[in-house]
Amino acid sequence: MNILKKPSWYISENEVTDESLFDKRRDFLKLGAATVVLTSSVMEKLSAIEMTKRDPLRFTKTSFGKGLEQNSFHQASTYNNFYEFSLKKSEPAKLAHTLKPSPWDIEIKGEIEKPFTISMEEILSSYPLEERVYRFRCVEAWAMVVPWIGFPLSHIIKLAKPNSKAKYVKFTTLFDPKQFPDQAKGMFGNIPYPYVEGLRMDEAMNDLTILSVGMYGKTLAKQSGAPLRLIVPWKYGFKSIKSIVSIEFVENQPINTWNDINPKEYGFYANVNPNVDHPRWSQARERKLGSFFKQRTLMFNGYEKEVAGMYKDMDLRKFI
Ligand code: MTE
Repeated sequence: MNILKKPSWYISENEVTDESLFDKRRDFLKLGAATVVLTSSVMEKLSAIEMTKRDPLRFTKTSFGKGLEQNSFHQASTYNNFYEFSLKKSEPAKLAHTLKPSPWDIEIKGEIEKPFTISMEEILSSYPLEERVYRFRCVEAWAMVVPWIGFPLSHIIKLAKPNSKAKYVKFTTLFDPKQFPDQAKGMFGNIPYPYVEGLRMDEAMNDLTILSVGMYGKTLAKQSGAPLRLIVPWKYGFKSIKSIVSIEFVENQPINTWNDINPKEYGFYANVNPNVDHPRWSQARERKLGSFFKQRTLMFNGYEKEVAGMYKDMDLRKFI
C-alpha cells in the first residue's frame, strides 16, 4: 500500500456516470443501436459495470450516516484495493468477472460449540438486512462514504456460540487461483495468500461491525468483495476483508496479512487516528474520492463515541 503521488482516482462530477445509466445498456443495445460509435471512455465505463452485474436486495434503511454525502457507486466500484486481482486500483473492476460469488459457503469454526458451514442463501434468508451509510478510510489517506447493506457480525457470533477460549475472530478470504489471477502467481504474487484479518472479540461484537452483502441497494460488486465482506468503519480499510470463506474463533491474536508483510507500518488494531502518522505519510488529513480538497481525518473515523471505550487503557501510539 503506497500513497499515490498523482490522485489518479480524481474524477470530476461530469465524468461520474450513475449506475442506472449502465443498467440501461442492454436495453439500448436491444434497440439495435449497435451501429452507434461509442467513445472509448464510455465503452470502458460500460464494460467495467458489465463485470459488476448485481442483484437487488430487500433491506431496511437506518439512520446511520444520516446527512453524510455519499460517494457514487461508480466511484466506490472503480477505485479498489483487491490485491487478488491487481495492485492497480482501476484493475479489479475490469478483472473481477472471474470471481464466482455463487454458490458460496462460509466455514464457522474454532473455539465454538460445534463447527459448521453456512451458505450465502442461508445467511440471506436468516438475517434481516439493513442499509448503513458509513465513512470508509483507507490507511493510504483516501476516504469514501458508502451505503453498505448487511447485518451485525454479532448475529453470526451468537449463532456460533463461542466458548471461553475464544478471544479473537479470524477471517480468511477465498484461496482459488482460478478465480483470483494474482493467487496463481504463487510466490511472485502481490502479497501472501489467503488474505487474513482479525478482530478482538469486543470489537467483533460491537454494533458498528457488520458483515456486508451489498452496497447501493444491490449485492456487492465483485471487486468490492462479493459475496460477503467485513466492514469495520472506525478502522483503516485493510481490516475490511473481502470475499470471506472462513470465520474462526481463536484464543491468540491472529496475524493479519498487512501486519505480517510489514509490522512496522501496519498493526493489528489499525484504528483510524489523525494523531498517529503512518511512518511514510501523515494521517492528519484525507482525500475523499471525487473531492479535490483534503479534509480533516476524524478520530476513530468519526465513531469515537461508539468505540473509544474499548481502547481506554491502551497506548494508541503503541498499538497501531
Ligand atoms: N480483502 C482482500 N481479500 N484483499 C485485499 O487486497 N484490500 C483491503 C480491504 N480488503 C483487500 C481486502 C484494503 S487495503 C482496503 S483499503 C479495502 O479492502 C478496500 O476496499 P474497497 O476496494 O471496497 O474500497
